[in-house]
Amino acid sequence: MEFKAVRVTEHVYWVGAVDWSVRDFHGYSTERGTTYNAYLILADKITLIDTVKAQFKNEMLARIASVVEPTSVAYIISNHAEMDHSGALPAVIQELQPEKVFASVMGAKALNEHYHLRSPIVPLKDGDGLNLGKLNLKFIETRMLHWPDSMMTYLTEERLLFSQDGFGMHLASGKRFADEIDEGVLRLQAAKYYANILLPYSSLILKLLERVAELSIPLDIICPDHGPVWRRDVGNIIDWYRAWAQQSPQPKALIVYDTMWQSTDLMARSIADGLSAEGIEVRMMRLRANDRSDVMTEVLDAGAVIVGSPTLNNGIFPTVADFLTYMKGLKPKNKLGAAFGSYGWSGEAAGLIADELKAMGIELVMEPLKVKYVPDREVLIKCRDAGVRVAQILKQRTNDGKAG
Ligand code: FEO
Repeated sequence: MEFKAVRVTEHVYWVGAVDWSVRDFHGYSTERGTTYNAYLILADKITLIDTVKAQFKNEMLARIASVVEPTSVAYIISNHAEMDHSGALPAVIQELQPEKVFASVMGAKALNEHYHLRSPIVPLKDGDGLNLGKLNLKFIETRMLHWPDSMMTYLTEERLLFSQDGFGMHLASGKRFADEIDEGVLRLQAAKYYANILLPYSSLILKLLERVAELSIPLDIICPDHGPVWRRDVGNIIDWYRAWAQQSPQPKALIVYDTMWQSTDLMARSIADGLSAEGIEVRMMRLRANDRSDVMTEVLDAGAVIVGSPTLNNGIFPTVADFLTYMKGLKPKNKLGAAFGSYGWSGEAAGLIADELKAMGIELVMEPLKVKYVPDREVLIKCRDAGVRVAQILKQRTNDGKAG
C-alpha cells in the first residue's frame, strides 16, 4: 500500500484514513463521508495518538511507514475507545509491540471490555503528564464528552490539542486543514456533528471551555479524530462550540412533520406562512424527505420546534415517532414547541406529540392543533394564525433573552 503521512507540525504527522464511502454512521447520515484521524508524534519515544476503524489499519500503517519504521512506535495513546478510533488497536498492538499503551482509567476498562486484550493498558488520570524525551504530553479527562472514557491529550511544546471527537466533523476531503476548506461547509458539518453527538453534553462543554480558559492553556492547533485539523484561528471553532453549547434560542422555527394525504402538509405550510410573515426564519422538513440527523442540525439553533403528524392506527406516524425518540435522547434546551396534525376518526397523534415535547422540557405555546380529514379555509387560517402567534412569542423571547 502506498500512502503518505501528512505533516502537521515539526513533530506531528497525520497518519489516519479517509473514508469517502461511508453514508451511515450508527444512524447519522454521513453524506460527505468521514475521516478517522490518527497522529504520529516524532519524539524520542515515538507516539501514536489513536488508531483508525479496523478496516483501515493497513492504510494507517502505510502512512506511518512513510515517516518511520512502524515497529519504532514506542507508545500508543487511546483518547477514545469507540471502535472508529480503536478498531485497529488490537492488531496494531500485535504487529508493532509498543512498549506501552495508555488510556484514561475508564478507557483502559472500556478497551478491555471491547477487545479482551492480553497486554495491560496503562491508565492515566486527569492532569497526568508523560515525557516523550524533548516533548511532553498532558492528559485532560473529558468524561462523557462523549463517552465515559473520553480524554484529550495536549502536546505542550507545540501548543497542540489532540481532541478526539471534540471539534470534529464527518467530512471526507483531500484537504487535511480547515483553512483549506470552505467555511460554510466546515460550519455546517461541525454543527451537524455537534447536534447529533455532543448536544446532550453541552453543559460539560461549557465547563471544559471555562477550564481551558482558567488554566490559560495556549492553543494554536486542534487535531480532532474526524475531519480537518484546525491550525489557524482555532478561536472560530471554539466560538461556534460556545454558542452551540449555550443553546440560546434564535428567531428561527423548524416545522418537522410527515403526512399521508397532504392534510398535515397543508397545515404545516400555513403555519410556516404565519411564521414567515412575522419575519421568523422558517425550515420545513418532511421526515420522509429528510434524514433525522439533518433535522437535528436545524434543531440546534431553532428557537421553536413545531411537530406535526397524521394519526395512524391511533398513534403517531412512524417517521415522526422515530424523530421524537431521537431528539429526546439529544436533550435540546431552551425551545418553544407546538404540535399539530390531521386525523380521520380517533385523532391521538397531535396530543401524543405534545406529551412527548413536554416530557423533553420543550415549552408548549399552544394547544395541539388538529383537523379532521382535510383542512378547509377556516382551519388553514387558524394554522396561519398559530404560526403568527408562535412567531410573536419567539420574537419576544429572543429579544428578552428569556427563553428557557
Ligand atoms: Fe468518533 Fe465517538 O467516535
